[in-house]
Amino acid sequence: MERKIAKYSTLMIAIHWLTAILVVAAYLLSEGGPRVATDPPFWHFVCGFAVLALLFPRLIARLLGGAPPAQDAGSALLNTAVKLGHGTLYLLLAAVPLTGWYSVSKLGVPVDLFGWTVPPIAAAVKGNIGVIANIHQIGGNVILILAGMHAAMGLWHQFIRHDHTLERMRP
Ligand code: HEM
Ligand code: HEM
Repeated sequence: MERKIAKYSTLMIAIHWLTAILVVAAYLLSEGGPRVATDPPFWHFVCGFAVLALLFPRLIARLLGGAPPAQDAGSALLNTAVKLGHGTLYLLLAAVPLTGWYSVSKLGVPVDLFGWTVPPIAAAVKGNIGVIANIHQIGGNVILILAGMHAAMGLWHQFIRHDHTLERMRP
């Protein structure tokens, strides 16, 4: 008999995959500091801010029950590891765009998103824009690495363990 698979809500699934595409796009469209000032990467900003904006409906949908009960990973330790991994991804989905926003403000580069001028969240400085920009760069790389490991785990569960994990997030 077919087992009923507990799935994420349609909204959470849509935001999950849209976010995944936007994070990879933001990464691919990123530029180093000096170039950002002379040739601002508009689409890096668009994708990055979209990631931040999508986090709010996603977390609200989750609070309202958009996530199915967690699967048993096999032990209490593994269950905690899964929670920590997902929690870290959520944290980075906020921290990476926010530190990017801070960096662009420090650089004094105006960001105009289709007619909406994004307000700066820090005073512009001349020269070195400080450690937050480094944290942004590192965070941008870490989220990609972590998401890659997360994707590999998802594929492993689905195709090696055959426990339908990927189907929980399937559109
Ligand atoms: C930047 C890319 C990605 C990010 C930031 C991301 C983030 C997340 C987060 C935070 C969750 C936890 C959802 C929750 O319970 O609230 C999740 C779940 C999930 N993700 Fe991703 N993800 C990404 C890419 C991928 C890819 C490429 C795959 C597949 C190969 C994937 C497969 C899944 C699956 C199957 C779940 C559900 C796990 C479960 O509850 O059993 N994700 N993702
Ligand atoms: C998930 C979203 C984002 C990811 C994955 C990401 C990733 C990256 C990466 C990897 C770099 C380093 C590029 C290099 O050194 O070659 C970078 C630089 C930068 N990003 Fe983002 N970013 C995101 C969102 C944002 C947002 C929302 C903004 C703000 C508008 C932003 C502004 C910047 C700026 C100003 C730099 C240059 C920092 C410097 O001076 O070194 N980013 N980003």
